[in-house]
Amino acid sequence: MNAAPHPILDSIRAIAWSEGSLKLLDQRKLPDEVVWLSFDRCDAVAEAIRDMVVRGAPAIGITAAYGAVLAARDRIRASGKDWHRGFADDLDQLAAARPTAVNLGWAVARLRARAAKLATSEVEEALFAEAQAMHDEDITANRRMGELGAGLIQGPCGVLTHCNTGSLATGGFGTALGVIRTAYGQGCLSQVYADETRPWLQGARLTAWELVQDSIPVTLICDGAAAWLMRTGKVQWVVVGADRIAANGDAANKIGTYNLAIAARYHGVRFMVAAPTSTIDPATPDGGSIPLEERAGEEVTRLGGRSFAPEGVQAWNPVFDVTPAGLIDVIVTERGVVTAPSHKTIQAVLQSQSP
Ligand code: MRU
Repeated sequence: MNAAPHPILDSIRAIAWSEGSLKLLDQRKLPDEVVWLSFDRCDAVAEAIRDMVVRGAPAIGITAAYGAVLAARDRIRASGKDWHRGFADDLDQLAAARPTAVNLGWAVARLRARAAKLATSEVEEALFAEAQAMHDEDITANRRMGELGAGLIQGPCGVLTHCNTGSLATGGFGTALGVIRTAYGQGCLSQVYADETRPWLQGARLTAWELVQDSIPVTLICDGAAAWLMRTGKVQWVVVGADRIAANGDAANKIGTYNLAIAARYHGVRFMVAAPTSTIDPATPDGGSIPLEERAGEEVTRLGGRSFAPEGVQAWNPVFDVTPAGLIDVIVTERGVVTAPSHKTIQAVLQSQSP
C-alpha cells in the first residue's frame, strides 16, 4: 500500500531567457554558490556547453536552440541577407560542443530546418519561438514520463539514481528525477539514494542539492556502495536517464550506469531508463556506434582545485558508458513505455503519437 501523497515540488530552473539574453545557472559552482551567467553570443554558448556550465542531454539541446537564436541575430546584424553561411558555421560549432548526447544535434538540426524556410526579416523571432516551444515541450514530456514511470513503481520502495537527471539537466522537472519526483508525490517512495557520480560529482553536487531544495528525502552514497546497497534490499528500482538510445535500445548514460545495470540484474533490482524520444537516435544502430566522450584526466586526479593523486600518474576519463538493451527492464518515454527494449519495440514507440 502506498503512503500518503505529498505535493510535488519543482522549484528549480537552470535555463532562462530575459532581456534578449540567454541566462544559465552555472552548474560548476553548485551547491556552494548559485550564480547565473548571461550570454549574448553563440560562440560563448558553445563554450558553456563544453565547459559544463550547463549539462544533461535535454538541457544542452535547449541551450543550443537559444544559442542558435543568438547566432542568427548576430549574423543578420553583421551581414544582412548574407547571413546564412556564418549561421551554418555557428550551428556546426554548437552541435560539436559535446559528442554523446544526441539531443544536441537533434535540437540544432531542428533550428537549422526552421531557419531554412524563413525570410531574413522573420528569422530571429521565429527561431526564438521554436527554441521556446522546444523548452516547453521538454517540460511537458518530463511530466508525462513522470506519470508513466511512477505508474510502474509499487510502493513504498527505495530507488537508486545516478548522475543528475532533474530540472538542472532538462528544461525543467527532469527525466529519471521527474519519475522520482512523481513517485514521491504519490507516496510510492520511502527513500531516494543518489550515487555521488565520480568524477564530476553530479549526484553529490546537483541531484542532492535539487532534492534538498524540493524537500525530497535523499541519501548520498559513494558509487562503490551501489551493489552493496542492492544487496541490503533497500532499493527495488534503479532509475536513470540517457544521453543517447540506439535503435536497438542500447543506452549511453553517465559512466557507472553500466555497473549499476549489471549489479541490478544480479540482485533482482528493476532497471528503468527515462528519456524523451528526442534522446532516441534511430540512425545509430547499436551502442557500439555511439560516440562516447572522454574528458581530461585532471577531472579524475583533481577535486576542488586540488590534486590528490601523485604527480605523473595517468588517468583515463570516459564520461559515458553504454548499457546493453538486455539489461534494461523498461525505457519510459513521453510517448509510452517500452518493456524489453529491442529494435522492434523502439521503432514502435517512435512511430506512436504523443498522448
Ligand atoms: O556529463 P553530463 O552531466 O552532461 O551527463 C548527464 C547524464 O549522463 C544524464 O544522466 C543524462 O544526460 C540524462 S539527463 C536528463
